[in-house]
Amino acid sequence: MAAEKAAEILRAGGLVALPTETVYGLAANALNAAAVEKIYQVKGRPSVNPIIVHVAGINGAKRCASAWPSAASLLAEAFWPGPLTIVLPKTEIIPPIVTAGGGTVGIRWPSHPFMQAVIHRCGFPLAAPSANLSNQVSPTTAGHVARTLGDKISLIVDAGPAAVGIESTVVDLSSGAPVLLRAGMISSAQLAGVLGSLKTPAAAEGAVLKSPGQLARHYSPRARLIVLDWENERHLKAQLQLHSIPPDRAHVIAHDKIPADCGCARVSLIPEDPEAYARALYSELHVSDDLGAEWIVVEQVPPTAEWEGIRDRLKRASAPR
Ligand code: TXA
Ligand code: MG
Repeated sequence: MAAEKAAEILRAGGLVALPTETVYGLAANALNAAAVEKIYQVKGRPSVNPIIVHVAGINGAKRCASAWPSAASLLAEAFWPGPLTIVLPKTEIIPPIVTAGGGTVGIRWPSHPFMQAVIHRCGFPLAAPSANLSNQVSPTTAGHVARTLGDKISLIVDAGPAAVGIESTVVDLSSGAPVLLRAGMISSAQLAGVLGSLKTPAAAEGAVLKSPGQLARHYSPRARLIVLDWENERHLKAQLQLHSIPPDRAHVIAHDKIPADCGCARVSLIPEDPEAYARALYSELHVSDDLGAEWIVVEQVPPTAEWEGIRDRLKRASAPR
């Protein structure tokens, strides 16, 4: 059985690419420093970037955290299992390599049944960043993982496309007032609804350094990505010209005003509701990269709360190099 095969490799200190509901993860035994070291090597991940620890239940989470504030209970009750990572002070069992030497650990109880089955079989938590080379677009299918890491890991478990499609929301509860470290499909409005209040990165500048996922350029395709808003096709063409983007080198990702004849190399339609959009976005970026697009032109998305995780990823993917 695939879950047992994965657990066997993990028990022996190896790496396995596993499906989660957000994106595919590159997992190792979180309690085995030598195993976690392999994650950094395979991904080319900077050693300053801590790794999320995945558990399969509240008790598993409490083994990793030396404090369990009431806010943690509230968040776990509302959003676990699911796409939320909670940062708390770590216990002794978590080796420093997992937390990049820091005293806090990011903990997530994912909802994906396969991931849960593997964690149960292992009996230890799994350290797992997204299963991509550092700074590249996260994988939402097993195929995305295979393309960049296929020759570096012995098992990639294919469970179809990820249901959420962008990485988990990260909230820091380690220093008093809750701080949003990374936006995601669980919005800050939802979190504030449960917690009463939440500091966002703009309000807590220190958070920018606390979570490397906050670095401006991250989650980037090879192609240059730009977000534009257009009224009609003429307006789009004029903007491409303004930004010196040759249409025949540009792939357009649109969800509302679909250009029919902009001379672009490719136009893809992506669903207009935020959940379906998030599920489709990274696949579209992977396709454009695979086809050798020079530019990816993404239609601006709505300013509302349900889109904040998507806006965050588009902003990072379009940050100057
Ligand atoms: O949805 C996800 O979170 C996926 C799946 C596999 O669970 N994982 C993921 O991992 O996106 P990664 O390594 O690509 O991103 C982890 C983010 C980074 O921004 C990291 O800095 C932050 O979580 N993080 C992890 N531990 C932290 C800690 N102790 N303090 C602050 N930020 C932390
Ligand atoms: Mg990542």
